[in-house]
Amino acid sequence: MRIKACRKAHFNAAHRLYRKDWSDEKNTQIFGKCSNPKFHGHNYDLVVAVTGDVDPETGFLIDLKVLKQYIVEEVEEPFDHKNLNEEVEEFETLNPTAENIAIVIWNRLRQRITDRFDIEVTLYETPRNFVIYSGE
Ligand code: NI
Repeated sequence: MRIKACRKAHFNAAHRLYRKDWSDEKNTQIFGKCSNPKFHGHNYDLVVAVTGDVDPETGFLIDLKVLKQYIVEEVEEPFDHKNLNEEVEEFETLNPTAENIAIVIWNRLRQRITDRFDIEVTLYETPRNFVIYSGE
């Protein structure tokens, strides 16, 4: 029986969207306020969904305490109250858009969670704007 278990999390982080090979004018034109050279913050909300088969022995899909711990180690500790561009390795060369942040989170969690489970990451950059990545 396939079932999906979800865990919510939250982090605050600063970012700037820009390309080094573009002028400030072009960066502002494409990325708007998110290209402010002084950086700015967002309150990110995260939902991590894990899909798979219920273990008949325990009745669990995944121990949510364990999933919580992976999210703490892979997302909250490295991202919360950080400048994503300057303090998170992946964004040294990757624009920290909501899309790319969701992909980075998915890749980090994929390293920790067994292949028996599918993972879906939903990342809210604002209460109304969110992206979903499931590794495709
Ligand atoms: Ni922004």
